[in-house]
Formats: sequence, structure tokens, C-alpha cells
Amino acid sequence: MKAIVLTAFGGIENLQLQEVPVPSVDAGELLVRVRATSINPLDYQIRRGDYPDYVPLPAITGHDVSGVVERVGAGVTEFKPGDEVFYTPKIFGPKGGSYAEYNVVPQELVTHKPANLSHSEAAAITLTGGTAWEALVTRARLQPGESVLIHGGAGGVGTIAIQLAKAMGARVFTTCRAEQAEFVTSLGADATIDYERSDYVEEIARLTGGGGVNVVLDTIGGKTLERSPHVLADGGRVVTLVDIATPQNLVAAWGVNAEYHFVFTRQNRGKLLALKALLERGQIRPIIGATFPLKEIGAAHAALEQGRVNGSSLRGKVVIEVS
Ligand SMILES: NC(=O)c1ccc[n+]([C@@H]2O[C@H](COP(=O)([O-])OP(=O)(O)OC[C@H]3O[C@@H](n4cnc5c(N)ncnc54)[C@H](OP(=O)(O)O)[C@@H]3O)[C@@H](O)[C@H]2O)c1
Repeated sequence: MKAIVLTAFGGIENLQLQEVPVPSVDAGELLVRVRATSINPLDYQIRRGDYPDYVPLPAITGHDVSGVVERVGAGVTEFKPGDEVFYTPKIFGPKGGSYAEYNVVPQELVTHKPANLSHSEAAAITLTGGTAWEALVTRARLQPGESVLIHGGAGGVGTIAIQLAKAMGARVFTTCRAEQAEFVTSLGADATIDYERSDYVEEIARLTGGGGVNVVLDTIGGKTLERSPHVLADGGRVVTLVDIATPQNLVAAWGVNAEYHFVFTRQNRGKLLALKALLERGQIRPIIGATFPLKEIGAAHAALEQGRVNGSSLRGKVVIEVS
């Protein structure tokens, strides 16, 4: 099969199109013909060498699949050849990722693809959607009538998190560049904060009359853990998705009895089934900002890393059409 193989840590030139064997299919696994995948920051973080201990080289990475079941292993009863499926492969798993014509996956991670989505759309949502679900539903326990500050609202996670929070009946504030304000408002954001020109702590105080928000979703890092208590209502929750590389002062968290959650998304079918119901009802939709063929994966990495495509700010996901 054709696959994009990461041959060394570093730049996009290390992502090489090669002919490699199709992975073996063991009991309980499916062989899936990958029709589309998408790029996540984890992919360029792995490529540049942020997680060398978890990724022995050469490696096939990639964390979203939409495709068609080709073959099933012993004991698989829920899927058959020809079924259209979508999922996030096991992260750092032994059978390789989704930058390939075929992927092998344990059946418990897989869900039938929503019928109203194309393969490109379905591949744009498995990791980001699963992460947004885990952050807002499982960890933050966001409730109808509560308010949430979603950092990075125009990004892969942010575009889904805004829609999910609205579907849950929350009031949504989000940070983005000024040129993205109209776009994120169209997704359901009640107010936008220009992260380049204004201070989100001051803006949230103004927008909530000093009351603060119930939940912060941190997709950015930096000083967000330290600053979040200043935008939180009493008993508020902070959910962060990013590496916390430097110590931060959390004394202010006491003042509002803040709750902190550190999420590294876990794959499971339950989250995808819940997202599928929302997708089929049209309550959320995947946002695709750019599409590339498999052989141009380097350009796709660069687009996500720079947040730019054709001279404009990227909106949502970068998708790869595989076959
Ligand atoms: N822990 C987990 O399980 C997990 C899962 C998924 C993602 N993540 C992490 O979460 C982060 C976001 O992922 P993603 O897929 O949404 O990435 P993405 O598609 O690149 O989106 C990031 C967004 O943040 C915006 N942004 C950059 N700096 C900002 C700032 N200071 N304030 C507000 N917004 C800012 C970017 O806009 P501009 O480009 O216009 O600046 C972009 O729209 C990444 O670090 C990723 O590794 C973690």
C-alpha cells in the first residue's frame, strides 16, 4: 500500500510517500481502506520530535480515519466488509496511523460513519470531536444555562467545541483573530474576543458583568492555568488540552474553588456514537478549511502549523483525501 512514512524527526521533507506492506489483521481487528484523514497538531508535534519515546521510526502517523471496511479478523461481529466507518486509531498504537491506504484498528474504537457526511467531513471530526466531547461533557460537565470560554474558537477543536457547547445550551465566549469573528459567530459563539488586540480577562469581566464563566476550555497553553481563576465564577472548571511545560501559580484558584482537568483524549466508541447523533441531527458540522491529496501531506502539515491557507487564516481542519 502507499503510505506517508516519517523517516526522521524534523521538517516536512521527512514525510515520504513509500510503498509498504499492509498491516496484519488480528482477532478483533478490522482492515479499513482509508478514504480520508486529517491533520492535527499532534501530527506535526510528533514529526518535529516532541514525543520521540512514544514513536519509534520509521513511523506512519495520523489520527483520523473515514473509510470502508475491507476485511475483518476473527471474532468481529459488528462490522462487515463494505461498511463505512469513522474513528481515531489507537494513538501511538503498534499498527500505525491513518496516513496510508489501509489502517488496522480494534473494533471497539470504530463507529459506523454518519450517512449524511462525506468521508472528508467524517475524517475532519473524529479526534477533535472526541476531544471536545471529553473536555466539555465528560470532564467539565457543562450544564444548560452555564457559560464557557473556548480559547482558539476558529481551530480544529474550537470549531466543534463552540457548536457542542451551544447544543448543550450554554452561553459561549471564544477567543480568535478579528478576521475570524464573523465565522465563529456563525458557528454559534455569543461573543468573540480578539486575542491579538484585547485582554480576555478584562473582556470576560465586561461581558459577564464581573460574574465570570463556569468553564474554560484551554487549547492554547501559556499562562492559561494561572489566569483562568480570574475569569471563573465560583466553582468553575478549567479543562486544558495542552502540555504544561512551565510551573504556574495557582493560588488564585483557591479564591473561586476552581477545578482543573488535564485531558489527553482517549478513544472509545461511546463518544463517537454521541457525536454521530448530533451530526445526523445537524446540530454540529465538521469545518474543513483546506483539502490536499496524500502526496502533498507536507504542504498540509505546513498549512496547519502556520494557521494559513492561500494567504488567509485557516478555519477548522486540514483534510487529506487518500483514496
Ligand atoms: N490533549 C488532547 O487530547 C488534545 C486533543 C486535541 C488537540 N489538542 C491540542 O489542542 C491544541 C489545539 O488543537 P486544534 O486541533 O484546535 O489546533 P488548531 O486547529 O491549530 O487550532 C488552534 C487555534 O488557536 C488559535 N490561536 C493561536 N493562538 C491563540 C491565542 N493566543 N489565543 C486564542 N487563540 C489562539 C489559532 O488561530 P490562529 O492560527 O489564527 O492564530 C487556531 O485557530 C493543540 O495544541 C493540540 O495539540 C490536545
